[in-house]
Amino acid sequence: MSAPQKDDKPEASSSTTAAPSPAKDGTTPKTTGAFLAACRGEKPTHVPVWFMRQAGRSLPEYRKLREGVPMLESCTRPEMVVEITMQPVRRYGVDAAIFYSDIVVPLKAIGVDLDIVPGTGPVVATPIRTAKAVAKQLRDLEPSDVEYVTESVRGLVGELGDTPLIGFAGAPFTLASYLIEGGPSRDHRLTKELMYRDPETWDALLGRLASIAAAFLRVQVEAGARAVQLFDSWAGSLSREDYVRYVKPYAKTVLDAVADLDVPRIHFGVGTGELLTEMGDAGADVVGVDWRVALEDGIARVGPGRSVQGNLDPTVVFAPDDIMKAKADAILDAGSKARGHVFNLGHGVLPATDPDALKRLVDHVHAYELR
Ligand code: CP3
Repeated sequence: MSAPQKDDKPEASSSTTAAPSPAKDGTTPKTTGAFLAACRGEKPTHVPVWFMRQAGRSLPEYRKLREGVPMLESCTRPEMVVEITMQPVRRYGVDAAIFYSDIVVPLKAIGVDLDIVPGTGPVVATPIRTAKAVAKQLRDLEPSDVEYVTESVRGLVGELGDTPLIGFAGAPFTLASYLIEGGPSRDHRLTKELMYRDPETWDALLGRLASIAAAFLRVQVEAGARAVQLFDSWAGSLSREDYVRYVKPYAKTVLDAVADLDVPRIHFGVGTGELLTEMGDAGADVVGVDWRVALEDGIARVGPGRSVQGNLDPTVVFAPDDIMKAKADAILDAGSKARGHVFNLGHGVLPATDPDALKRLVDHVHAYELR
């Protein structure tokens, strides 16, 4: 159920353009600094919150703007990227913006023939399964390949003011999975088959993807992004042993390659309960925890030197408000014992999500009193 004004342009609706809404004491919480402070383990003024996939299909203003423009084309139009990235910031008053792009954008930019098929995800025309194919289809990413990213980030920095922009990249394993399978996969069978059967090709492929991901993150930070998130969305399909042997070294290469930029590095995957310690150890300042793990257990696994991000089940925002708020409170209480806690869902916003429920969730998180 959506009220008609929700389809209006954001600036036409004051309730959706507002900066953070007043806290319990009537003051407006400071957006400045809370997200970066929590990432760095400094004491924030309030618990910061943003949502993975906050920009996108759950927003009517997004669907309207994207009408007739293919996903990957929209990522190359700076004006559109700026507007789509800003939409959830205006609507929800979240503490950080996530750059509107996709994990496959740098691959497309170096000439890989791929597309994002609506309702399916990335589809690769000629899957990469041999050393020859790696050499033929993948080269390093140069900043000049993604000038539209630099332009978009610069534009955003001007629009966002104090709200930090999170840049992101797909991690080598998750990118490799799309390239090897040719599209989304449930069991990652071909990916793991190559990993076990042909370690040399695996090393060449993941090594190349690590430098592409690192270059993509660098471009975003050098243009003004103030944090980065490495999405290893499908790493949770691996045992700990295989993660450590075949995947972690490449995630570490990416995270190490941007360490000198001095921005917080968030490392996230789905179903990674058994990998959280390793994902932190790969070089993250913040580890994303999905909802299958109780946040207190996630905090223990991540250890004392890092912050955590998460971890409300994305379907909980469809529950009655009292249930949503009680579950958020449990996460906030657990998070208050971490070095730092960035509130988020345990994975991306589902397309059917009611934006008003997310707004109520943001307000609820912002009203939580940190002790
Ligand atoms: O708010 C944001 O997070 C926007 C930026 C963003 C997108 N994709 C835009 C997008 C980010 C951070 C991503 C990351 C991404 N892309 C990941 C890692 C995050 C995760 O969810 O685990 C992955 C695995 C992809 C690959 C991908 N791209 C998938 C699986 C899909 C969904 C396909 C579908 O239609 O169901 C996409 C498309 C995509 N990327 C959309 C958006 C807004 C939807 C495109 C549309 O509007 O049709």
